[in-house]
Amino acid sequence: MSEFNEYQDKTVLVTGGAGCVGSNLTKKISELDAKKVIILDNLSSAYEWNIPRNENIEFIKGDILDEVVLKRVFKQRPSHIFHLAAHFANQNSVDNPEKDLMVNGIGILKVLQHAQLTGVDRFVYSSSGCGVYGLDSKMPFEEHDISISLHTPYQVTKLLGELYTNYFNNLYEMPIVNARFFNVFGPGEIPGKYRNVIPNFFYWSMTNQALPITGDGNETRDWTYVEDIVKGLLAMGIEEKAIGEAINLGSGKDHQVIDMANKVNELTGNSEDIAYRARRDWDAKNKLLSSIDKANDILGYKPSVSFDDGLKNTYNWFSDNWDNIEKCAEFEY
Ligand SMILES: NC(=O)c1ccc[n+]([C@@H]2O[C@H](COP(=O)([O-])OP(=O)(O)OC[C@H]3O[C@@H](n4cnc5c(N)ncnc54)[C@H](O)[C@@H]3O)[C@@H](O)[C@H]2O)c1
Repeated sequence: MSEFNEYQDKTVLVTGGAGCVGSNLTKKISELDAKKVIILDNLSSAYEWNIPRNENIEFIKGDILDEVVLKRVFKQRPSHIFHLAAHFANQNSVDNPEKDLMVNGIGILKVLQHAQLTGVDRFVYSSSGCGVYGLDSKMPFEEHDISISLHTPYQVTKLLGELYTNYFNNLYEMPIVNARFFNVFGPGEIPGKYRNVIPNFFYWSMTNQALPITGDGNETRDWTYVEDIVKGLLAMGIEEKAIGEAINLGSGKDHQVIDMANKVNELTGNSEDIAYRARRDWDAKNKLLSSIDKANDILGYKPSVSFDDGLKNTYNWFSDNWDNIEKCAEFEY
């Protein structure tokens, strides 16, 4: 992959830039000497303390559904857009399906409409491997083998986002790329009721609670370290061959949930063990594994952080930011 010098002096918009992936991506683009990185985020699932600071970063607190805010943002004519803002994720969408459709459906449509009006060099959309592949897709998941038999509103609307970006590419020749992330983890994700399993396990482990596995623990996931996702995204923002393509960003390896839980407990020194719970109704996939051949061919993408190192870095970030994390982590009693 290149050194990404192409971002120098560019104005880049990161919607959802206060979130886990967005904060890491913003920091990196800012360090690449972009003229400006605009973060548009309503902080619905993020916190101000987690937003990277630098002279070339502008944080606009606002909603992607708000026309006034969108006009203010697009007046600056960003050349590159990373659309990461989303109603996150599966359980949240089952509990709040209409909100999910508003943000992930109408929201992306509005951002695309503004991008089309002002013109952009690249529009990269954060789709989801867990969203677009189904029980009828062959493992490891290859990009052509998507499913229309999905299990949550979030999966439906993440796929819908791809249909919209493709439509803007087909009709207006907008240079879009659909990035299909697989189970991202790493510094920047604050635990909470609707968050991913790794940050939540660190939180419970650091507060000496047993880790609740919803299933038998033999399920596997393709956990991908956020730094590798960021590198993949940066390449998608500049590589010509990526235009119009959907590309998996995974680690290309899967790990069992029970192994991950044991590693987390080992890192934190938690003496409580594992508590097994019933599998969630919508959680139909025993195994998730990406094929990253296409990402490698088109982007030169090669994940570089091992699962163990990624977990260690995540634990270090939790330790360094524990006061803020403890204050912000929201769970039901
Ligand atoms: N984290 C994963 O495992 C994963 C996997 C597949 C796909 N994705 C996708 O990648 C993207 C980034 O994921 P993440 O883990 O950083 O999620 P995240 O929830 O940390 O970040 C999303 C950000 O969007 C913001 N947001 C939500 N609604 C908004 C609105 N209406 N207007 C403005 N901002 C809004 C939130 O405050 C948050 O900061 C999302 O689109 C997600 O669907 C993530």
